[in-house]
Amino acid sequence: MQNRCVNMIAHLFNAPLGKGEEAVGAGTVGSSEAIMLAGLAFKRKWQNKMKALGKPHDKPNIVTGANVQVCWEKFARYFEVKLKEVKLRDGYYVMDPNKAVEMVDENTICVAAILGSTVNGEFEDVKLLNDLLIQKNKQTGWDTPIHVDAAIGGFIAPFLYPELEWDFRLPLVKSINVSGHNYGLVYAGIGWVIWRSKKDLPEELIFRINYLGADQPTFTLNFSKGSSQVTAQYYQLIRLGYEGYKNIMENCQENAMVLKEGLEKTGHFNIVSKDNGVPLVAFSLKDNSSHNEFEVSNMLRRFGWIVPALTMPPDAQHITLLRVVIRQDFSRTLAERLVIDIQKVLHELDAIPARLSAKLSVSEEKAGNGVVKGSASNGIVKKSAGNGVVKRSALEVQSEFTTAWKMSDMESKKTNGTC
Ligand SMILES: Cc1ncc(COP(=O)(O)O)c(C=O)c1O
Repeated sequence: MQNRCVNMIAHLFNAPLGKGEEAVGAGTVGSSEAIMLAGLAFKRKWQNKMKALGKPHDKPNIVTGANVQVCWEKFARYFEVKLKEVKLRDGYYVMDPNKAVEMVDENTICVAAILGSTVNGEFEDVKLLNDLLIQKNKQTGWDTPIHVDAAIGGFIAPFLYPELEWDFRLPLVKSINVSGHNYGLVYAGIGWVIWRSKKDLPEELIFRINYLGADQPTFTLNFSKGSSQVTAQYYQLIRLGYEGYKNIMENCQENAMVLKEGLEKTGHFNIVSKDNGVPLVAFSLKDNSSHNEFEVSNMLRRFGWIVPALTMPPDAQHITLLRVVIRQDFSRTLAERLVIDIQKVLHELDAIPARLSAKLSVSEEKAGNGVVKGSASNGIVKKSAGNGVVKRSALEVQSEFTTAWKMSDMESKKTNGTC
């Protein structure tokens, strides 16, 4: 059943079908495990090549955007590969292929592109990356490959943008991961890694066992795992088929547009996501000088919404945003209700001008052996404690807002007489 899923997903990603080119792959716990395996395959292939050339093979690196999910940082640290990140900049929140290719050197095991950035759902330009890297490989004699992290976008792009070339149609794309438990429409605990062909998965990563009654190759980090997710993935693939997935993804995309347009109409938000990426709406306040996105996020919880507020990765960390991922059960009605509740929250925040921010400033000063230099509104506050500059993380700022908000909520309950 797992092999049938691998087969269908490889086909969906346009794996070549020529002789000796058959794709291989495996079901994993999620995209993180899939990425560890793909990264290990690149590292081992690069090491083997460098050994054969009689060159040093102890300083591998990988080039990614600063917007990569934390699993890439884990891969780099666990498996001792240097992570070279292309920084973001204002207005450009994914990896710039030109800069990525500039950073490639002889020790680069691969460039990892993301199809559906975790932060704003945007697709990176894998085609341009492929073309630039082909040129660089030609000039240098290297053969730096590409991995596509399609954790979120792998079950979106083939249905909504079949013409978009991001997958095995591009010759340098050697492996792709996708999360089954994301838009693959399965409950948590399933991901997939697909290699373009057998020669992209080094033999030494494959173990063979026969104690379960048949010769069985195994190349995942875990050996035993539940089969329910694989069964569920198989069921969804054959039950929905191409048309079924397409209908669901189109519906998600339409609801994302309803939400986006509703937010735009409030006049309070800039939209940071793209219409042609993952059905996800990322947005930031046009003016967050009195109240910021963390406050909006906290107040929305009272209406039953969990809409995370987050800061962008370096070098765009001064931008704070709110992020809503549209799943298949998020209806148009819910999108409209969310806009109404956001408007209520903004209205309430307007009625308590800069109250939480003011409380925070007071508590800073009370604690205070220092001058507050930055504003809490950008999610990162710097204060000089006399002994240097202290940076507070977005998480710390958020938890302070939550505490301040709870206190102010309790105070208001005291005065209006409710128990
Ligand atoms: C782009 C991207 N890659 C990898 C991952 C890790 O995936 P998983 O949670 O399936 O391990 C995520 C998770 O959100 C992601 O957004």
